[in-house]
Amino acid sequence: MIEVSMPTNIALIKYMGKKDSIANIPDNSSLSYTLDDLKTTVNLSVIDAEQDQWDSTEDQARFIKHLDFLRQKFNTKKYFKIKSHNNFPSGCGLASSASSFAALTECFLKIINRDISVEEKSALSRHGSGSSCRSFYGPFALWSGEKVESIALPYKKFIHHVIVVSSDKKLISSSQAHSLVKTSLLYADRKIRAEKRLAELLESFKKQDWQKSYEIVWQEFQDMMALFETSEKPFSYLKLSSYFVLDALRDYWHVHGDGPLVTMDAGPNVHLLFREDQASMANMLSSAFREKFTVI
Ligand code: PMV
Repeated sequence: MIEVSMPTNIALIKYMGKKDSIANIPDNSSLSYTLDDLKTTVNLSVIDAEQDQWDSTEDQARFIKHLDFLRQKFNTKKYFKIKSHNNFPSGCGLASSASSFAALTECFLKIINRDISVEEKSALSRHGSGSSCRSFYGPFALWSGEKVESIALPYKKFIHHVIVVSSDKKLISSSQAHSLVKTSLLYADRKIRAEKRLAELLESFKKQDWQKSYEIVWQEFQDMMALFETSEKPFSYLKLSSYFVLDALRDYWHVHGDGPLVTMDAGPNVHLLFREDQASMANMLSSAFREKFTVI
């Protein structure tokens, strides 16, 4: 029996839209921060059977498909009993596919005794879920085409909070979103905008221009939301409460001239990233939001 934990990550420049949907090659570069405290633990044990056994019904098909891909790649006929759990509350609407596929890939490689490079592990994991390839790197991961790397920036660690406004299961999966965005008229220039923002964000991080970084990160998640809303069949992950939280954060920045980086994933919850020296601000803001929402 082998057990492995891997962290999830939150994108500051988003991966949205694929060049190749089998190998999960993105149309544009993305930059993420690895959330070391939010992990999936996968436990595999070899069983004497012709198919895998899974203790959960969620996302089964996608996980088994990834195991099939790995089995074929490494030419093994081993089948497994699979257990998987997150150390963050499940059903809180947080994307866990990055940590799940990273942990499943790592665990598979351990149980079949294959010691390969982190680049190869990350590339294999990418086939299961694109964003999972970034979870092998940190604190910041830069992903472009088939290449992923850790990138050194002046910030070593952020304080991360999520304002959980809804834990409803999302109606549009991220895989569906990746193809729907291509029907938006805004998609034609999406790569240009994302690459420009990436360059500007790296520059503002290097200069430690926090307000500029906040503005770019905000523009970037709003760009992704705009792609959703302007696709041929418009859709959105935001709830009324998401707007409430975003509005409160914008006001906070306006009043104080300071605040956290704010971003959202393909979901209704709002991610906050504070610098380490903003710990008291992080506590204060999170306790204020706790009056209405779950904050993790
Ligand atoms: O890894 P996937 O296919 O679930 O894509 C996730 C994409 C976003 O989470 C919406 C953005 C990102 O870059 O992580």
